[in-house]
Order: sequence, then C-alpha cells, then structure tokens
Amino acid sequence: MSHAELTDEEYARFCGLIYQTAGIRIADNKRVMVSNRVRRRLRATGVPGFSQYLALLMSEAGREELPLFLDAITTNETYFFRDPHQYEWFSDTFLAEILHAAALHHHTRSLRIWSAACSTGEEPYSLALKIAAKESRFKHWRITILGTDLSGAVLKSAEAGVYDARSTRLVDPLALKTHFTADAASTKFTIKPEIRARVTWQQHNLLNPLPGEPFDCIFLKNVLIYFDAESKKKVVRNVIAALARGGYLVIGPTEGVHTMLGSLERVQPWLYRQTA
Ligand SMILES: C[S@@+](CC[C@H](N)C(=O)[O-])C[C@H]1O[C@@H](n2cnc3c(N)ncnc32)[C@H](O)[C@@H]1O
Repeated sequence: MSHAELTDEEYARFCGLIYQTAGIRIADNKRVMVSNRVRRRLRATGVPGFSQYLALLMSEAGREELPLFLDAITTNETYFFRDPHQYEWFSDTFLAEILHAAALHHHTRSLRIWSAACSTGEEPYSLALKIAAKESRFKHWRITILGTDLSGAVLKSAEAGVYDARSTRLVDPLALKTHFTADAASTKFTIKPEIRARVTWQQHNLLNPLPGEPFDCIFLKNVLIYFDAESKKKVVRNVIAALARGGYLVIGPTEGVHTMLGSLERVQPWLYRQTA
C-alpha cells in the first residue's frame, strides 16, 4: 500500500476535484493535510494507492465514495452558541421583532430558519433552544428550522444529537438540564426528542440553489473560508435568493463576503437584511 505523499500531479487533480464538487479552493501549502486525509480513505476502502483512488472517484462506481472523500477533506468543527452575541441578537431582537410583527398582523404566524452548512447540528439546535426558551409565545406557530450540509455523515450525527462537554460548554446549565439527557459520567449529552423534532435535515451543496419557501433568517457561518471569490459569489447568490423580504442573513467572522452583499442592508458587520 502506498504511504508516500501525493505527487504534484495527483495533488493538482485532487484539488481540482474538490474545487469542482464543493467550491473549496485548497491552498498550495496543504499537500500534507490532503495527503493525510486521503490516506484515511485509502485505509477505509482498501484502495492501494492515490492514483487508483482518484480513478475510483472519477468512475461511476465512485459515486458513493465521493461524499465520503469530501467528508474527510472538509472541516466540521462547530459547537453550541458559537459567537454568543449572534444568538443574543436572535433571541432578544429577531424573535421579539417577529412576534411583534405577527401581533400587528404584519407577519404570519410562521417562522422559517435555515442553518446553511450546519455540520453536526449544534447551530440549528442552538436556534431551536432559543425558540424553546420562548415556547409559550410561539404557540400555534408553524416553525421550520432546516439544517443543511454537503456531508451526509455530519447530518447523520446531527440527527443522533449526541454531544460532548466541549461542544456543549456554552449551553447554560438550566438548558443543559432541561433539554439534554446526560450519561452516567456526564460526558455525553443527548438532545431530547422535543428539541430534535424541531429541526429537519437535508443534504445540500451551497453551490446549488435551495428550492422552497423563503427564510426569515439564515445562518451562514464558518464555511466559506476556503472558497474562492467565484464560488463565494455563487453561494451568496443562492443564499440571497432564499431570503424572505425583511429576512436576515447572519454570517461568520471568516466568510469574507462583505463586498458581495451590496444588495442587502448592513445592520451589523455580521448581520444583513433583505429590504428589497
Ligand atoms: C466548520 S463547519 C461550520 C458549522 C457551523 N456553521 C458553525 O459555524 O459552527 C463547515 C461545514 O461546511 C460544510 N461544507 C463545506 N463545503 C460545503 C458546500 N459546498 N455546501 C454545503 N456545505 C459545505 C462542511 O461539510 C462542514 O460541515
């Protein structure tokens, strides 16, 4: 079995494939990382070398392997209430605003949230927890929280809803007690069915439009860092198209899309609104 590093040509071909399928531009200095991650797939599949593995990915038989390869390449790091100020805004301003608008009949009693690139689910579950904290005010509302990701593996894990102490470190102790079941050693926390039922999951590539009704709020965080300008533009176009009139877009600190959001109103450096 080959354990050497990728050759120049193999590296270029892997990077080309990653760019075409996920929009992610891998920097020239990531060869060791890519070699290590591809090697994991060689071990998992029993394919003897890099070039044979590339051939598999390019073939009809490699259809099922391609998402597993992308899983191995992408970074899935996330945790509950990452960037807490954004969740404070969501709870104290956004939810309050939408409740007020519904009371004045300026908004239907429906709320649609999209966590785009949700990884293992901490982001959409954090949003569900914020809504649960105002449960009594959302009686008889139609609430949709959609979590999407390119990777099927992270979505499976999101559906299972089991988290460790590191991932839940910013969940307040009362919410942790109320909405999670801890194991005997308090090292694993499973989200309870009533919160789990609030979120729906869908495998989706942000390079493609997401069909369906528009969203009142979209979280797009910590995914575009490795995308080049062309792919970022595609994603931004698809995300803006999914935003309802008056809807908000929350972006992460590394998205690097500020210059592409000119059609939206800038509310905060990390918060934009569809006013058109
Ligand atoms: C670091 S996680 C971000 C999770 C969460 N949004 C956060 O901010 O904590 C990045 C996720 O983006 C996903 N991803 C990468 N390229 C994607 C694409 N083209 N379409 C959809 N998701 C993608 C990866 O699978 C990964 O789960």
